[in-house]
Amino acid sequence: MNDIKRIVTDDKEKFYNYMNLKLTGLICEEPDWLANLSNASALLWLLLDEINWAGFYLYKNGELVLGPFQGKPACTHIAIGNGVCGTAARDLETQVVKDVHLFPGHIACDAASQSEIVVPIVHEGKLMGVLDIDSPIKERFDEADAKGLQKFVDTLNKYMDWSKIV
Ligand code: SME
Repeated sequence: MNDIKRIVTDDKEKFYNYMNLKLTGLICEEPDWLANLSNASALLWLLLDEINWAGFYLYKNGELVLGPFQGKPACTHIAIGNGVCGTAARDLETQVVKDVHLFPGHIACDAASQSEIVVPIVHEGKLMGVLDIDSPIKERFDEADAKGLQKFVDTLNKYMDWSKIV
């Protein structure tokens, strides 16, 4: 199988380009959505430093439902507009939260989480779900992460057949 190595670099653009290349390799010839989102969460978990949760919530029947992830067990249903995930889903905008304790309505699935980034997954104008990553340190994520993870979501969108999910 793939021997994916961690890289050490302070250059976030370089890091995300590398991760994106690995994601493409993992999903470009695989049609199964569950296999692809599972491998995508495993890739985030393997390559990103200082994180304690990485995975997906999928948009089903008007709410977010837990999808493939790595980390501690998490809440299974999130209403649109609730928490960081529900806010990203409602506004269709990436949320970069430097301190989760300062985010009104933040849902604490793991008490260790200190900062968080949530990228909405929008395919052909429709919400498919969100990508959520938590960190045990404050201010883990910035605009460079938002940009890099948007590319990650763009790659998922390019190869995934979302119609099979719901
Ligand atoms: N913190 C998220 C909930 C999901 S967990 O972090 C996995 C939120 O506020 O929406």
